[in-house]
Amino acid sequence: MKGGVGKSSISVNLSVHTGSQYITNDITPPSIEDFIQIPPNKKKIPADLTKLENAVFDLGALSTLLDPKVAHAASFCDVIIIPTRTDSRSIAATLKTYELLQDAGKPIVIIINHFRDQKKFEATRDQLWSTLGRVPVASIRETTLFDRISNAGIVFALNIQNAKGLHMLQKTVQKHNAVYDRITAIGEHGK
Ligand SMILES: Nc1ncnc2c1ncn2[C@@H]1O[C@H](COP(=O)(O)OP(=O)(O)OP(=O)(O)O)[C@@H](O)[C@H]1O
Ligand SMILES: [Mg+2]
Repeated sequence: MKGGVGKSSISVNLSVHTGSQYITNDITPPSIEDFIQIPPNKKKIPADLTKLENAVFDLGALSTLLDPKVAHAASFCDVIIIPTRTDSRSIAATLKTYELLQDAGKPIVIIINHFRDQKKFEATRDQLWSTLGRVPVASIRETTLFDRISNAGIVFALNIQNAKGLHMLQKTVQKHNAVYDRITAIGEHGK
């Protein structure tokens, strides 16, 4: 329920890491070749897309009401990810989104994204936990990786494990992949 928190960046990278189809309702989709775009006028996820074995749905923000496609996707998915930044408006939007998605009965993982200071991360996590209890919280720090992939395309992401001279980015990819593996495991466990 908040723009610019990292939904598309995380979704694209998660889909690459897990070999999943990337599906979005975003009108400015990221630089990935075989993405599927759901037209904005659709109220539900098209039936053929609900049956895909491996899919990441990047369903973006509406500030006041839950997009019916989000509720629909929540009804058949294995795991829900809510990315948040550390500012108070993002935290408020995350709590609201969590509350609305809880009814679906699916595991929910919050990713605290795009922060620099570990203390900021901890304060955000503690604030979320004080309302929600100790729900799964993952973290992705501020990184140049998402912009690099966004600019250079998905082949860059696929090649980065082998690339020379990008040691820091390789480490970043590994950290992100650990987050995605944890989320996948939580989704598997809930089946
Ligand atoms: N961890 C991060 N470190 C650095 N930049 C980031 C990080 N996460 C996201 N960004 C940047 O923030 C911007 C917004 O991210 P993104 O487009 O993924 O958010 P979104 O939630 O999909 O936004 P929208 O609501 O517009 O669809 C992008 O330029 C992206 O590269
Ligand atoms: Mg987006």
